[in-house]
Amino acid sequence: LNKTEKLYSGKAKDIYATEDADLVIMHFRDDTSAFDGIRKEQLAEKGVINNSINAFVMTYLADKGIPVHFQKKLSDTDSLVRRLTMIPVESVVRNFAAGSLVKRLGLTEGLPLKPSTYELFVKNDELHDPMVNDSLVVTLNMASQAQLDEMKRLSLEVNSHLVELFAKASMTLVDFKLEFGVAGDGTLCLGDEFSPDGCRIWDSATGEKMDKDRFRQNLGQVVDYYKEVAGRLGVDLNQG
Ligand code: C5P
Repeated sequence: LNKTEKLYSGKAKDIYATEDADLVIMHFRDDTSAFDGIRKEQLAEKGVINNSINAFVMTYLADKGIPVHFQKKLSDTDSLVRRLTMIPVESVVRNFAAGSLVKRLGLTEGLPLKPSTYELFVKNDELHDPMVNDSLVVTLNMASQAQLDEMKRLSLEVNSHLVELFAKASMTLVDFKLEFGVAGDGTLCLGDEFSPDGCRIWDSATGEKMDKDRFRQNLGQVVDYYKEVAGRLGVDLNQG
C-alpha cells in the first residue's frame, strides 16, 4: 500500500490515505509540542522511537483482545492503521496523581489513586482540552452513552494490561491518554498512539521521569529517556 493524499496533519503525526479506503498510514514526525501547541521543538529520532514503541504496545494490547486500529509497522516512521471516525473526546486513566490533576485538586504529585481514575476531555487546543462528563458528551452528540461505557471499560482494561507490562520492565505507569474511533464496520477501536508523548512513566526505582514531562518541564535528555523506555520494554528500534 502507498500513501495517496494527506488527510490530516496533527501536532506530531500526519495521516495519509492509501489505495484501500479502510486503511490509512500514520506517519510519526520528530515534532514535539506542549501547552496546547504553544511550545514546539524538533527532537531528532523521536518519530522513529515513538512509531516503534506504539507498534509494540498496540500489538501487545491486540494480543490481549483489545480492538486496536493498528495493523502493522511499514517503515521506521510509518504504520498502517484502520481508518476510524474519531470520537473527539480524550480518555485519561490515572494511577498516581500528576499533571493537571495535581493542579486542579491541589494534590501531591505521586499520591496513589486507588481505584484508578477515569476522566474525559474534549479535544480542543483553543479551549485547552476542557474536562467534560458523560452527560455533556451525549447531549452534544460527541458520542453515545454506549460508546462512552465501552471507552471506559476498554481504557481501564488497557490500564491493567499496561501497568503490568511496565512494572515488569521496572517502570511505573502513572497516567495516560487514549483516543477512540469507530471503524467502517461500526466497531469501537483504540486509535491514535501509545507512546511517551501521551503518558507518564516513572522509573520504579528512582522515580525519574521518562516521558514528555521531561520536555514540558525542561528536564533535558527527552529522547534518551524515550529510548530507555523502548529498551526496557524490549522494543527493537532497528526492526523495519
Ligand atoms: O495534563 P494531564 O495531567 O491531564 O495529562 C494526563 C495524561 O494524558 C498525561 O500522560 C498526558 O501526557 C496525557 N495527555 C495527552 N494529550 C493531551 C492531554 C493529556 O497525551 N491533550
